[in-house]
Amino acid sequence: MNLMTVSDFLNPPVQTPSSAAAASDSPSAAGPEPLNRKEIEHAAYKALNSLINPPDIYSGAEYDPEGRRELDEFYSKNYLSLNIVDENGIRKQQLIKRLGCGGSKRAILLDPSTALLIPNMDIDPISKIAERWERNISEEIAVSEFIKTIGFLSPSLKKVHISISDFMIPAYTSESFESFNSKGIFIIDQKNKHSSSWKYREKFLFKTNAERLEPENWNSPMSRVIVDIMQLILYKANFGSDSKNLALVEKRSERAVCQHEIRYFCFDFSSKMRTTEIPELTCNPQFDSTKIGWIENYAFNCINEILISIFDYEFSNSRIPRDQIKEFREKLEKKYTQVFMEAYHKTETQLENPPHRR
Ligand SMILES: Nc1ncnc2c1ncn2[C@@H]1O[C@H](COP(=O)(O)OP(=O)(O)OP(=O)(O)O)[C@@H](O)[C@H]1O
Ligand SMILES: [Mg+2]
Repeated sequence: MNLMTVSDFLNPPVQTPSSAAAASDSPSAAGPEPLNRKEIEHAAYKALNSLINPPDIYSGAEYDPEGRRELDEFYSKNYLSLNIVDENGIRKQQLIKRLGCGGSKRAILLDPSTALLIPNMDIDPISKIAERWERNISEEIAVSEFIKTIGFLSPSLKKVHISISDFMIPAYTSESFESFNSKGIFIIDQKNKHSSSWKYREKFLFKTNAERLEPENWNSPMSRVIVDIMQLILYKANFGSDSKNLALVEKRSERAVCQHEIRYFCFDFSSKMRTTEIPELTCNPQFDSTKIGWIENYAFNCINEILISIFDYEFSNSRIPRDQIKEFREKLEKKYTQVFMEAYHKTETQLENPPHRR
């Protein structure tokens, strides 16, 4: 095939009946062969990728603070925009800044409360991405809706399209993490610290080390996330650790030392490799007393992951020896696994023997 520019790809010559007839009469004058749908699609993805990647900034800039500063500056000085299509029609939206990216997605701020999620095209070939991206979007949206219905915190997502030349690339928007600040909800992004709105070394649950190291003080922040773990088990909503991010939610209390509760904050459900099973919205919570060992182990692992993550932030400025922090964490892990198991048995008994209704 002849070498073509992106714009050639995106604007294949339109064949009118007469030009088509002329072309069939004299094959040598026909010009490049018309592109098939896949080629046009791949060219559109490439065009999107070159639009959001500044030509003069080194690749991988996103992964270090200096690079992120350069990118922020580039985005603030240059007006980058995309045509977004949704049920209200087509509109031009400025790309304000790059929020972060992972192995398969990239988030870009469209307005203070909206992030646009597009595929990260730095790693995999476009053909592979185009094949899976639509599936990824529907899984993200379906699981997020399911998990919100059963009471989890998760950003609202919406499918949109990006109109690039004549092609529509699917994408989705998400409530931005920062937009939750005004509701007193601060996010810990487990994989990208710089994306967390619970700011590392700035935000803490407790004011002093003495408060931090008092086991009783953890009852208030831990109690709500234990209910979240129970929901994960009862609804078999086992979506893997990528999606189990955390939020610290303001909860004013005169009795508790800590003024926040820990919750799961769920996003990033889909995988590059395999399809994600979407639980039925109508499914009922299920107890399974034959699996008590598995449940205890699952709950322990959840509590362990939660505390490792929270302690990383909480003890970041503390200067307490690591061994002492680890020993304290293990004590809490044991305690809250026990608390969880007691709550599990209690709920099971209540559901099996509902109180007599008058
Ligand atoms: N709603 C949002 N608001 C702000 N930033 C976001 C939002 N959604 C995603 N991001 C940013 O995009 C990054 C990648 O998102 P996500 O974790 O969904 O993608 P991923 O490619 O599956 O990641 P990984 O490969 O690490 O699993 C996040 O870590 C975060 O930096
Ligand atoms: Mg992921």
